[in-house]
Amino acid sequence: MSHDCEYYNGNNDCYFGRKIHIGTVNKLDTMEKYIEAWPLKVVQFQEKYNGVIFVDAMCGPGEYVYTDKKTQKEKTIQGTSLRVYNILSKYRKNPKMQKAYLMINDHNEQAIKCQKCRIERESKKYYPQKVVVHYSQRDVSEYIEQIIQALSAKSDCHILFFYDPFKVDIRWAALEKLFRRNIDVRNRIDLIITHFHQNDPSRAIPRGIKDPQKRARYEQTYEMQLEAIENNLKNLTGYERSKWFRDRMVEIMCRRLSIKPDQVAYAPIFNSRDSSVYDIVFFSNSKRAKDLFKSTIYKTINEHYKSVAKSKPESENHQQLSLDLGDIEELTPKEEFNKDIDRYYSVSYFARYIAERFSGKKGISKDTLESFLFNHPFIPSQGIKVELDNTLKNDYQVKITQKRGEGKRYHFPEA
Ligand SMILES: C[S@@+](CC[C@H](N)C(=O)[O-])C[C@H]1O[C@@H](n2cnc3c(N)ncnc32)[C@H](O)[C@@H]1O
Repeated sequence: MSHDCEYYNGNNDCYFGRKIHIGTVNKLDTMEKYIEAWPLKVVQFQEKYNGVIFVDAMCGPGEYVYTDKKTQKEKTIQGTSLRVYNILSKYRKNPKMQKAYLMINDHNEQAIKCQKCRIERESKKYYPQKVVVHYSQRDVSEYIEQIIQALSAKSDCHILFFYDPFKVDIRWAALEKLFRRNIDVRNRIDLIITHFHQNDPSRAIPRGIKDPQKRARYEQTYEMQLEAIENNLKNLTGYERSKWFRDRMVEIMCRRLSIKPDQVAYAPIFNSRDSSVYDIVFFSNSKRAKDLFKSTIYKTINEHYKSVAKSKPESENHQQLSLDLGDIEELTPKEEFNKDIDRYYSVSYFARYIAERFSGKKGISKDTLESFLFNHPFIPSQGIKVELDNTLKNDYQVKITQKRGEGKRYHFPEA
């Protein structure tokens, strides 16, 4: 147990020791890699910026425990706030990063106490102190409303706003104010929402939700009476249910926050049985930022997935597959992309999707294909190109030609 936490002694509510699963580790790693790449890119390429603001509106306690499946050993894992604090502290040496703010909030008093304790500990690594940290302990709707003015005053900073509730609870009214009250804030903001649709609805919704507060959260998040949600989900498979929740959430997000569907990316996150548990939904005005998010998450999930698959004996992999098939009724063992994870994170699936989408089309330019990928909600354009070209050629008989002085052209056979 933690010996360096001043709140631990005699305090059973201390958050140290809160356990997380692989899905959360994937989320934290993705956020970290994205944030490592993100702030420097935005501030360096835009004159108006002198720094960044990272807001974690539901920040949790800042540190967790994860049990490694391979070794069965427990390790301490830092949450988003601590990772961002470290990244921004290192970036402060860059002359374009004159300002760096970390704004964190949680309605739970102990979570904020833990954050203070842990950030204080991290801060000893950096001298002089350069990242300004704002702590707050409020309900998220009230918090958002409260910080709009502070965000609008820091007009030379790009904002990354992280909304991570761990349950179905999206406060559209508050987010709408953030996006609509001040157009300058809206233009400087990237938004990441974790959408926990699979946390319980696949089980809870068909049986009805009894708890009135939970019912209200669902109805507010999906802007629909619970009975209507239940009707929409009737007879759907697990995969289709996730899709229904995702489509509904993205449609409301675009409408309420006045954003275009092609500005949105989403990435399902999986548990250790490779079932999708929630989505990370991303918005940015910048298509490059969106592509960076997609390629970062693709890389993170692939690395985890491959290392787990490699560590299992072949027979165990098959066993895992049949367990998963029990959850996803419509699929047969012959289906090639029978796991959700393969649909969202494999170049083989992307190639099949593209081969079908462009079926029979000849002379498609590299730019056309790239802009298709840029607009796509989950297929990245970076980090997959060579493998994608090879798979299109070898598995889908796509001819790729290049005349002198011209870019590549793709010729797709009829699928
Ligand atoms: C998934 S955890 C946050 C993890 C954190 N963002 C990270 O990446 O390390 C969700 C947190 O949201 C907080 N929370 C839930 N509902 C809230 C609300 N209505 N207002 C403020 N905080 C809330 C919980 O107390 C919990 O600590």
